[in-house]
Amino acid sequence: MDRVWWKESIVYQIYPRSFMDSNGDGIGDICGIIERLDYLKDLGVDVLWISPVLESPGDDNGYDISDYYKILEEFGTMAEYELLLKEAHARGMKILMDLVVNHTSDEHPWFMESRKSKDNPYRDFYIWRSGKNGREPNNWGACFGGPAWEYDEETSMYYLHNFSRKQPDLNWENPKVREAVFDMMTWWCEKGVDGFRMDVISMISKDQSFPDGIVSGGLYGDSSPYVVNGPRVHEFLQEMNRKVLSKYDIMTVGETAGVTIEEAGKYAGNDSHELNMVFQFEHTGIGDGKLGKWTTERFDFMELKEILSKWQTKLQGKAWNSVYWGNHDQPRSVSRFGNDSPKYREISAKMLATCLLSLQGTPYIYQGEELGMTNIYFDSLSSYRDIESIQCYRELTEAGLISEEEMLECLKLRSRDNARTPMQWDGSANAGFTSGTPWIEVNRNYPEINAASQADNSRSVLSYYKKMIQVRKSELGLVYGDFILQEPEHAQIFAYKRVCGADCYLIACNFTDQEAVFVMPKEFSENNTCLISNYDRGNYNGEICLSPYEAFVVKADK
Ligand code: GLC
Ligand code: CA
Repeated sequence: MDRVWWKESIVYQIYPRSFMDSNGDGIGDICGIIERLDYLKDLGVDVLWISPVLESPGDDNGYDISDYYKILEEFGTMAEYELLLKEAHARGMKILMDLVVNHTSDEHPWFMESRKSKDNPYRDFYIWRSGKNGREPNNWGACFGGPAWEYDEETSMYYLHNFSRKQPDLNWENPKVREAVFDMMTWWCEKGVDGFRMDVISMISKDQSFPDGIVSGGLYGDSSPYVVNGPRVHEFLQEMNRKVLSKYDIMTVGETAGVTIEEAGKYAGNDSHELNMVFQFEHTGIGDGKLGKWTTERFDFMELKEILSKWQTKLQGKAWNSVYWGNHDQPRSVSRFGNDSPKYREISAKMLATCLLSLQGTPYIYQGEELGMTNIYFDSLSSYRDIESIQCYRELTEAGLISEEEMLECLKLRSRDNARTPMQWDGSANAGFTSGTPWIEVNRNYPEINAASQADNSRSVLSYYKKMIQVRKSELGLVYGDFILQEPEHAQIFAYKRVCGADCYLIACNFTDQEAVFVMPKEFSENNTCLISNYDRGNYNGEICLSPYEAFVVKADK
């Protein structure tokens, strides 16, 4: 067994804007993160992935960077960032930087130069094309609504932006772009960051013929066959690995929208010299319909089980997984995959923790997940802050593709703002997040759901997370063991073995609000030790009837 630190690590994602505000301006900041490092240490996580804190006009909350070498003022200063690195390292925690290099802000000096003239030295840093018959160069839609091309009067040409019009895509075909990105990455590695989470890195290579995409449910053509896992993406990442990543002992995870098992084997294969692991999006996309994520369809359990099992077994021994329920782009995990009703919220959040932390692959916990924080369920569009939610609402309702009432329901279930409401620290005003006015409303349920009250309660979701993290840390078999699915046809229970040398574990999770019968496999039927369970049950032997959302990990006695 080849032991590797980033396989054994547990990652915690911080969305700085909503984590902790240290100076009362309503916006979370770097000093706020420093204030809470002891909390994170106590939780037991090893790596902190911090969403972007660099200079940005904030069109997409920092995912539109205008200076890769400067900290955004509202988040703090470079000295504070350096202090964060130092303080995290002093506690044995590492920092994973969010690397956003598929695009920059349109206010980045490269773009401001690029748009000036056709022969500007920075012209080819971005993707410029002439219009066709007075329209965009092709029919591609942008992820946040509208066309993926923006007309620029200065030179009468269009530039490509797969996200908002303030996020022009960089032209990775240009070796100077790659060089500039690699230099910048090296600079951050020298500063001491411990790795990168790479934003939409599967989209950096575009099919240079820029063909029209198929129009299905929405207004625009689907660009994904031509921009996702594009022709040169692996070549570019291998070059990045050769020139930067291989020189440091760091970890890398690619946000690879549209990744398949086969592609994951290339991005994160044992010998592929690209990335350590990728995020796949099949399970977060369950229920997506003709308007993509804008649906009120809930998740189908059998589909979830099939997807997770497929990723576990197909990458086994070939590439390394990452596992997660949520992040800053997803609804709250307990609302999406568990049950956030008062009756089942805690128990189902604990069930999700049991599952997440017993799968193969590096686990990622999103801030507040360890408290069982829920979706916000805003009643009106005016409460939303997210560019995607607002623009898609306007576009789809104006085109008559969905009614305003229905779209509001979709947002309640799927808007990214569900995950972006402030961290609920305690029962004081604004959940202890800020002494000022928070940039986005705090969830009204903070008096019941907050870190301070859970810290003192041994039966809380937070205490359960801590315990489950320790179980994973003390049992290497849960990190490295093979995954073997049990009872694939069971309509309520996701059960699997993890087998590592002589160590054998059984995990069973009831994903429903109904009791479920489960028969323990032979080798566990009598002699096993229960490592953790979210119910007070002494042992798990023979045929058992699991309560709603009951979950456990047992280890076979030797
Ligand atoms: C990624 C980020 C998301 C952002 C988008 C564009 O998906 O996670 O928050 O809006 O890329 O940068
Ligand atoms: Ca602040």
